[in-house]
Amino acid sequence: MCGIVGYVGVRQAAPILLDGLSRLEYRGYDSAGIAVRDEQSAHIEVVKAKGRLTNLMQMTDSGRAVSGTCGIGHTRWATHGEPSALNAHPHYSKEKRVVIVHNGIIENYQELRESLVRKGYTFSTQTDTEAAALLLDSYYAESSAPSPRERALEAIRRMMIRVRGSYALGILFGDQPGVLYAARKDSPLIIGRCEGENEGHVLASDVPAVLGYTRRVVYIDNLEIACLTREELHIYNIDGEELEKPFVEIRWDAAAAEKDGFEHFMMKEIHEQPRAVRDTLSPRIREEEGGRVIDLSDSGMTDEALSGVRRVLLIGCGSAYHVGMAARTVIEQLARVPADAELASEFRYRSPILEEGTLAIVISQSGETADSLAALRLCRERGVPTLAVVNVVGSSIAREADAVLYTWAGPEISVATTKAYSTQLAALYLVAVKLAALRGSIDDAREQALIAELLALPEKIERALADKERLQWFANKMAACRDVFFIGRGLDYAISMEGSLKLKEISYIHSEAYAAGELKHGAISLIEDGVLVVGVATQPELFAKTVSNLTEARSRGAYLMGLTPYGQYAIEDTVNFTVYVPRTEALFATSLAVVPLQLLAYYISCARGLDVDKPRNLAKSVTVE
Ligand code: AGP
Repeated sequence: MCGIVGYVGVRQAAPILLDGLSRLEYRGYDSAGIAVRDEQSAHIEVVKAKGRLTNLMQMTDSGRAVSGTCGIGHTRWATHGEPSALNAHPHYSKEKRVVIVHNGIIENYQELRESLVRKGYTFSTQTDTEAAALLLDSYYAESSAPSPRERALEAIRRMMIRVRGSYALGILFGDQPGVLYAARKDSPLIIGRCEGENEGHVLASDVPAVLGYTRRVVYIDNLEIACLTREELHIYNIDGEELEKPFVEIRWDAAAAEKDGFEHFMMKEIHEQPRAVRDTLSPRIREEEGGRVIDLSDSGMTDEALSGVRRVLLIGCGSAYHVGMAARTVIEQLARVPADAELASEFRYRSPILEEGTLAIVISQSGETADSLAALRLCRERGVPTLAVVNVVGSSIAREADAVLYTWAGPEISVATTKAYSTQLAALYLVAVKLAALRGSIDDAREQALIAELLALPEKIERALADKERLQWFANKMAACRDVFFIGRGLDYAISMEGSLKLKEISYIHSEAYAAGELKHGAISLIEDGVLVVGVATQPELFAKTVSNLTEARSRGAYLMGLTPYGQYAIEDTVNFTVYVPRTEALFATSLAVVPLQLLAYYISCARGLDVDKPRNLAKSVTVE
């Protein structure tokens, strides 16, 4: 979603802002803008453009046409008001006394607008952000604090108390050259210290934006305010008390966020899955005298706490929810603990029954998804222990959960998740096997066999990737189709949901995942000549049933693709095209079957000439509810 970058230092700000914004492009946006202040003339230049960042680059000669060493920039993903240059950020008050960029949503903006209009303010955009800018302006004007900095801090604090909703803000005050302010509530914000030729401070809503300049960052927490100059950084709480906050070192570098010779980030990330899954599994599997054991102590979750678990809730959105759907089955089958997958966006609204003994596992790549964060908070309020399965270190969900099992996928740039999905699944297999071992629902031999199978997964994912040319050929053939169904039963239904989501988000082809047995209860009426049906059949005991459902679809004119492990060759009698994946423990088959589905979506998107990494209307991190 929206991205924020700010810089104050010795270098010209505009090229740094544009470069930082380009690193956040993957988050999804529809317009962009920068505000840069020229110290000589005290003038703040604001330039905004609809569409891709290249438009803004052209308008500013890649930043060279806008002079000044202090500025803020933004990529906007429209919520209030259409995508347009006018509604793009920065937003500002009269004579640019206050200039802001904002991520999040000001929920009470209507009410603020009305009261500001009564005070004589006029609005020129349809955005919620403008209300925050003008409110800040009014508080700044009203303040009688002795210095400009104290006036600014007081105004920001008052504004934070008055607005409802979520925000990460970058702020310039017209009469304070060389000073940049920031504030946060429920929307991520980091500050990096730059040394050497870039000396100064950078502000950003996400790590990739600062990696070209520094790896030493401070995470701004909720209801904190920062004041940055070239040499100094001060952070305050909402009561105005100054805080001591540690700098942390970002482990991954800028190269990890580059395409590495691949045409798209998505393809690069698909190929990183063997490494990412290995990095997530291996450090948590220890050799002991009696065999291998799973050690989840790095998460902060003790064996004692896990032993007491009587019910598991797996909560997430989109692909993270699909991981939860698969993990639910694996946990129930192995540990014999009731488990449910929950859509985070629905969870709160049905007043969930959360009994003692429940463990809530919140799954999120970004760690910033607003609905998942809200579900986590609800669980915590209700005294339910929470475990986050998160990729982005230091993200809100990671910091607020009682325990965190990090997935070591590395930065995921493509909007369509691939390696984060696979590592979340791997992390939850570890939880399932560990729970089962602690509860004694599997014996030692089964535990050892499952762990061995987990360790073999990265190499098997590698083998699943080897079949990509055939998939590319098939994708080219199917690129013009209009409707696709993905069907399967049990775990295969969970895989189908992910395959269908991948396809629709990047190819814009209508697709649905259906529990194979449900097809004949309604949706089969949609099957006709030209519809592609992908049957996922990785579960031996369900194989024949799914094949029967494929036969029913074929009789109505569907073109069929089968996806099954090597050895299940009988499927060829029914389907038009088959993809085989290596054999593994049936409960872990999701990790292999998802790979061809990712490739299918990728190649279809390429064949249709679409923007694979940045699909229309979508954002990488959904920080609004
Ligand atoms: C998947 O390809 C999507 N981009 C989306 O469904 C995503 O999984 C969802 O928005 C959740 O994001 P999170 O993992 O960062 O919480």
